[in-house]
Amino acid sequence: MSTIKPALHHVTIKTTRIDEMIAWYGLVIGAQVQFRDSGAAWTTNDAANHRVAFLTVPKLSDDPDKTAHNGVHHFAFEYDSFDDLMSSYDRMRQSHVEPAFCLDHGLTISLYYKDPEGNYIELQSDNFSDWQKSGEFMRTSPDFAANPIGTFFDPARVYEAFKTGIAFANLQKEIRAGAYLPATIPNIGLPI
Ligand SMILES: [Fe+2]
Repeated sequence: MSTIKPALHHVTIKTTRIDEMIAWYGLVIGAQVQFRDSGAAWTTNDAANHRVAFLTVPKLSDDPDKTAHNGVHHFAFEYDSFDDLMSSYDRMRQSHVEPAFCLDHGLTISLYYKDPEGNYIELQSDNFSDWQKSGEFMRTSPDFAANPIGTFFDPARVYEAFKTGIAFANLQKEIRAGAYLPATIPNIGLPI
C-alpha cells in the first residue's frame, strides 16, 4: 500500500520568552495570534489555523550549549520572489532585525535569522521560481554537489545591487561565484 503523504503544517517551540517570540514572529513573518492563554500561544501567517506555536512553563530553561547539541537547526519560510525577499530584508533591517548569515544554496537565496530563543529561521526565495526545476538542480547539478551548503553573501551589498535593477539571473550568478562575500565568514550555528 502506498504512503499517503501528509503536508508539513506547523512547528511548536518551547520558550520562556513568549511575549518576545510573539512579537518577533509577528515582525519577521507577519504571524498573528489566533489564541493565547497563560501556557501557550498559537500563531499563523496564512490560512492555516496555526503555523508557529509556543509552549511556556516555568521549569523551562536555556540550553547554554545549544549550538553543540543535537536538535533542529532551522526551519524555513519561502517568499514568492527574490523581490519579496529583498524588500522584507530591508523592512526588517529598519527594525534592527538582521540576518545572522546568508547563503546562496544554488536552489535558493537564503537569509538566516536568529529568533529570541536562538533558533534559526531561514527566509528564502527559489532561484528557479519553480520547485520542479530547483528540485532537479538539487538532484542532478554538479555545481550543487560540489557546494551544497552554498556561497555566503553580504545582504546589504546584495540589496544595493538589487536596487540598481540588475537582472536576478545575473545577480544570482555573481552571488554564487562569491562576488558578494561578507567581510568575515560567519559561523552557521554548528560546533567547530
Ligand atoms: Fe534550509
